[in-house]
Amino acid sequence: MSGKIYSKPVTFAVMATVAVLVGTAVTMAYPLVRPEMHVKVEGLKPLPALELAGRDVYQREGCVSCHTQTVRPLKSEVVRYLGSRAQEPTARYSLAGEFAYDHPFLWGSKRTGPDLAFEGWIKPSADWQRAHLENPQKLVAKSNMPAYAFLSGEKVDAPAVAASMRALRRVGVPYTDADVTAAGADVAGKTNMDALVAYVLSLGKAVNRGAPGGVDVDLAAANPLGAAVAAVARGKQLWDANGCAACHGDEAHGQDGVAPNLVDEEFLGQKGDLPDAAYFAMIKGGSEVKPALGRPGVADGGMQAFGSDLKDEDIWAIVSFLRNQKGHEATESKAEEAKEHHEAAERRAKDRK
Ligand code: HEC
Ligand code: HEC
Repeated sequence: MSGKIYSKPVTFAVMATVAVLVGTAVTMAYPLVRPEMHVKVEGLKPLPALELAGRDVYQREGCVSCHTQTVRPLKSEVVRYLGSRAQEPTARYSLAGEFAYDHPFLWGSKRTGPDLAFEGWIKPSADWQRAHLENPQKLVAKSNMPAYAFLSGEKVDAPAVAASMRALRRVGVPYTDADVTAAGADVAGKTNMDALVAYVLSLGKAVNRGAPGGVDVDLAAANPLGAAVAAVARGKQLWDANGCAACHGDEAHGQDGVAPNLVDEEFLGQKGDLPDAAYFAMIKGGSEVKPALGRPGVADGGMQAFGSDLKDEDIWAIVSFLRNQKGHEATESKAEEAKEHHEAAERRAKDRK
């Protein structure tokens, strides 16, 4: 049987066609009917003039031949490109809606270098991006990416940017007359390097991916759950379920050399407590929020961000639990103090007898 099919060209052609169609249905049609592919990206805006100019440089220089710009909804890709840190499950990979204004798409198909779809979150520093484009090997010794230092010597072609906007408008990108008129002024004095850096930093930013720098610290925020008994109980459950105890200990007393005590009079290595919102920020954003809290903590950090695993409400419940635990210990130690005081008084009374 297995040998025979090769001697029947027509049957073979039909079977091959069926196999290809099944493959097409699985890899192309099936994703299209999955609802998470159709999440609308709220507030999607066309690229501002400078970023649009950068996109043109990206095309002209053929960056697309070494870099893709889509993170597929596969676990390995999500983890590799930091999507696992995104706050929303749907933000962990590229959404069709993010590319609504892209003409042409720059998804690419070759990854000589890493995917750049989330680059604005992964390396959000303009200084790093500029230095890397000028001389990749200075920052990544074994890189085989070409140097683009010459872009710093090229002025952005302002009339070309305005023309790009007009052309994109024809295919449905909502640039206004004001955008087109202002384009020249927006790119005045800028170089192609400025434009490319601005474009690279914009990648992935249409969606809140909450990666490095994505956690806003608002120390004035109050815990909406307060000291409610149900919140404390739920917080304790979440504490156990998320492995906090593995580092901080069952009762949050901390462990030497692993993780700090969360119920003492110190917070991140300095005397004095901080408000509930600081606890919230540390749990949500991990050690990366330390600079915003102004406390040194452990030299090389080590507290991971739980923002991708826990909803805000869950995090507040854990804060309720930690606060309760702390209050508990304070009363316990007061009661102990009182007891000691009482015993000492009794001893003194006895001595006098
Ligand atoms: C010959 C293939 C090649 C070309 C062409 C190329 N790159 Fe790269 N790129 C790489 C490789 C390999 C890396 C990984 C090593 C490194 O960081 O330098 C990389 C890294 C990067 C990174 C850092 C990604 C990260 O998160 O670490 C950025 C940003 C980048 N490239 C942008 C560009 C841009 C913009 C262009 C076009 C102007 C371009 N690349 C052209 C191969 C290439
Ligand atoms: C892998 C070990 C580890 C796990 C798991 C872990 N932490 Fe941490 N945590 C740390 C370390 C280390 C620090 C100190 C971080 C620093 O200084 O940068 C820390 C700091 C903190 C702080 C800052 C407060 C202080 O007093 O220093 C809070 C709050 C906190 N963790 C809560 C939690 C919660 C809640 C969980 C579970 C959801 C958790 N941690 C899971 C290791 C861990």
